[in-house]
Amino acid sequence: MTNMIEIINIAKHFGKIEALKPISFKIDYGESIGIVGKSGCGKTTLAKIICRLIKPTSGKVLFRGEEISRLKKKKLKAFRQKVQIVFQDPLASLNPKMRIRNILLEPLIIHKNVLAKYRDQRVRALLKKVGLNYDLIDKYPHQLSGGERQRVNIARALAVEPKLLICDEPVSSLDLPIQARILKLLAQLRREENLALLFISHDPAVIKAISERIIQL
Ligand SMILES: Nc1ncnc2c1ncn2[C@@H]1O[C@H](COP(=O)(O)OP(=O)(O)OP(=O)(O)O)[C@@H](O)[C@H]1O
Ligand SMILES: [Mg+2]
Repeated sequence: MTNMIEIINIAKHFGKIEALKPISFKIDYGESIGIVGKSGCGKTTLAKIICRLIKPTSGKVLFRGEEISRLKKKKLKAFRQKVQIVFQDPLASLNPKMRIRNILLEPLIIHKNVLAKYRDQRVRALLKKVGLNYDLIDKYPHQLSGGERQRVNIARALAVEPKLLICDEPVSSLDLPIQARILKLLAQLRREENLALLFISHDPAVIKAISERIIQL
């Protein structure tokens, strides 16, 4: 079986509002898929359903052939590790009371994917990977620029070695040159980590630059 994720007829209503029309597609290991669509067409809703933050009204999502709503304990933890998400607003996604060091250590401690004695080393490597200076380590999120914050979000997502990274408009709050750098970084990480990307944007140019396959919502 090559598919990592299968989305089968997923739809979502919030009361009478149809937030997401039925949609089906598959995500292979290492694949880069772009999701485009107008504001309000359900892109964020779809992203949240795929990573099990909210439940669909109908349809199902399979992870390695198993329905994600049925995953428990060990398998649920593995799913949480393998599927990571980066949201649009880089500041709101970071705990304002935590230093960058602890933001990056936290997932390593929760998922125990790195031995305790190697955690600091790993944090250093993560910062390097996303092109951040080690000097940022003792700062708080509000002391960073928008681009730096989004890099921290990406580093945190990568800390647990995911197989799929969902990016929900990860660059839309940033200046154009910074957008381009982050997109380049994601493409590079995809090659280095054999990571699948589900990249959401309302900007067709951004999607074209990064995706092999495009799905219109
Ligand atoms: N928790 C919620 N309760 C009620 N309605 C919601 C909720 N979340 C989203 N919606 C509605 O569902 C629809 C889809 O929202 P969603 O955030 O998925 O759109 P989007 O495609 O991500 O839009 P954008 O491009 O502006 O980010 C919208 O009409 C939105 O108002
Ligand atoms: Mg959205």
